[in-house]
Amino acid sequence: MPSDSMPALPVSPDSAAAPSHVAANQDIESTLRENRVFPPPEEFSALAHVKSLEEYEALYAKSIADPEAFWAEAASDLHWFAKWSKVLDWNLPLAKWFVDGKLNLSYNCVDRHALGALADKTALIWEGELTLVDESGVGHSHIRKLTYAELHVEVQKFASALKALGIQKGDRVAVYMGMTPELAIALLACARIGAIHSVIFGGFAAQAIADRVNDSQCVAIITQDSSYRRGGEIPLKTTVDGALLLTPSVKHVVVYQRSGTPVYMQAGRDHWWHELTAAADPVCPAEPMDSEDPLYILYTSGTTGKPKGLVHTTGGYSVQTYLTTKYVFDLQNPNHPNDVYWCTADIGWVTGHSYVVYGPLQCGATVLMYEGAPNFPDFSRFWKIIDSHQVTIFYTAPTAIRAFIKWGDEHVEKHSLASLRLLGTVGEPINPEAWMWYRDKIGHNRCPIVDTWWQTETGAILIAPIPGAVPTKPGSATRPFFGIEPEVVTREGEKVPAGSGGLLVVKKPWPSMARTVYGDPERYQKTYWSDVEGCYFTGDGARQDADGYFWLMGRVDDVLNVSGHRLGTMEVESALVAHPKVAEAAVVGRPDDLKGQAIVAFVSLESSVTAALATASGDSVANLAALKDELKRWVAKEIGSLARPEEIRFTDALPKTRSGKIMRRLLRELATHGSIQGDTTTLEDFAVIAKLREAEEG
Ligand code: WTA
Repeated sequence: MPSDSMPALPVSPDSAAAPSHVAANQDIESTLRENRVFPPPEEFSALAHVKSLEEYEALYAKSIADPEAFWAEAASDLHWFAKWSKVLDWNLPLAKWFVDGKLNLSYNCVDRHALGALADKTALIWEGELTLVDESGVGHSHIRKLTYAELHVEVQKFASALKALGIQKGDRVAVYMGMTPELAIALLACARIGAIHSVIFGGFAAQAIADRVNDSQCVAIITQDSSYRRGGEIPLKTTVDGALLLTPSVKHVVVYQRSGTPVYMQAGRDHWWHELTAAADPVCPAEPMDSEDPLYILYTSGTTGKPKGLVHTTGGYSVQTYLTTKYVFDLQNPNHPNDVYWCTADIGWVTGHSYVVYGPLQCGATVLMYEGAPNFPDFSRFWKIIDSHQVTIFYTAPTAIRAFIKWGDEHVEKHSLASLRLLGTVGEPINPEAWMWYRDKIGHNRCPIVDTWWQTETGAILIAPIPGAVPTKPGSATRPFFGIEPEVVTREGEKVPAGSGGLLVVKKPWPSMARTVYGDPERYQKTYWSDVEGCYFTGDGARQDADGYFWLMGRVDDVLNVSGHRLGTMEVESALVAHPKVAEAAVVGRPDDLKGQAIVAFVSLESSVTAALATASGDSVANLAALKDELKRWVAKEIGSLARPEEIRFTDALPKTRSGKIMRRLLRELATHGSIQGDTTTLEDFAVIAKLREAEEG
């Protein structure tokens, strides 16, 4: 983990008794033994871009032998106003890709298709969360569709509107919106005129918006009156009004009218989207951007400290988001002209930037966007959406999959899901049992699963199976993408043997890597390029198995240290999740005089188990105690007694970041001190912490 962004593990004096080389090397012991292997279904491979393991391996070997030639060939698929003079200029940690090349990402996402054969193809399908009720009282889904030609018009109009406000190339523009087509249009319009967008997730509060806007001195904020979530209205403009008291750099606010709920509009500063675009020039040519011109800033959800504004530039980011989308999601495939692609991530996160907007639109795909929550109006909303829009490719997060499991299979089983051909996951390690459930209940054992490993900092996928070619193993992100050389090493940079855990690093630059932290190049260098010499350090622990597959083990800063054994969180949690009664688990280390650290497991149970416990006859306290013992014995049996949790705490929900990652740091503080002192700005649901405290006191 980048050393400045998380507190060091609490270490008791006794943990010094751990063999010193272990601590110094940061080796991580691996205990997960998962032997299931699933070759790609033959029907899938036959029509895929890459059809066999041999083909993948040959392409990979070629890409590594000459990465510059490989990436140049990929770049040639896109439109350039001027070709690059040099593919890569590398001066660690500073990379320039496609030097002197001129292109525009909005052009590659929209114009290229609108002016070509795909003009009438649907680019965006949007479904609102609320049902529309017509005059006769009948409810209808709220759906909007835009073809590439229509998207072209909308993007140009909004780009003209931004220009008319005086927004210029290089200006920073904050975007604080819900999931609407206008959010995608806002990004594409900024990219079109060379304004640098900084999307702030629509769940952040005024202070968090102000911090991000001020850090990069944004001149404008694009927002909407309100958005909908779980049936409720989220007052985005009102929150922005709070932030605006603290953001002197902002001259203009553009407000998209989604709900029609009245909002405060300050004359001269605040403008309605529909009024600006009605008056705007419908033609706005795309600005030729230099490959290394910044495209966007995105603040990492962060754990502690000031959020880091990662800067992505134009050329390399375009090329790698394009190519990874094409190969990992098998898009732009002439055998599948009717693909409907749905990535459930919010555009407030990097996954939404790269795999809702920029990657799939460059591939000319039909992209589905859904405005709201998966459990509104009921637990089957996602499955209804898949059936009604005939979604073929579905990409979501392990945290969502664990929630689906917890809610119960009956919500899934009512739906056909027969249109699906490919599934994906991203954001956290996926526990093998959750992977198996996903494969069986959603994919009907017919769809390959692409477990994609990457980060805000990497811009695009670095490790993932090529679905028609690489056999998958539950819980493994499998093999590197073309041109990428990840390795598992010790702190000294030595490669660890197959099967051993260590630090995941990347040895060579890749096109979509973040170029810097906005306004703080030293922090970029220190956070990512100084832990392991000559390498980019991801902050993740991993192991590579004898077949060269990568298994992610969790953040290095979350590693447990029990009696000198360093254990990744992922493996202990996966053992717990493999128990039929457990839906989700998070493990942390609490200082322990004897062992260095003792494992405390926070466990949330399947809904049906909780219900059964509540109604079971007899003493419920005794029932819970018996279940705790059962789980401790289970882990000891699955992994070994060294991983046996000292304590199990049941909880309804785990504390998560707004992008769905478990915040183990907070659980560690709770398990150690009985309270939480650190920063909780990125916490999604504050009630979870209150409940955890109550549970502890109760
Ligand atoms: C974790 C999200 C295991 C990892 C794209 C990484 C994963 C961090 C996976 C980046 C995966 C993401 N398997 N772990 N497939 N994907 N992670 O910046 O710890 O929100 O470093 O980017 O999420 O999170 P970020």
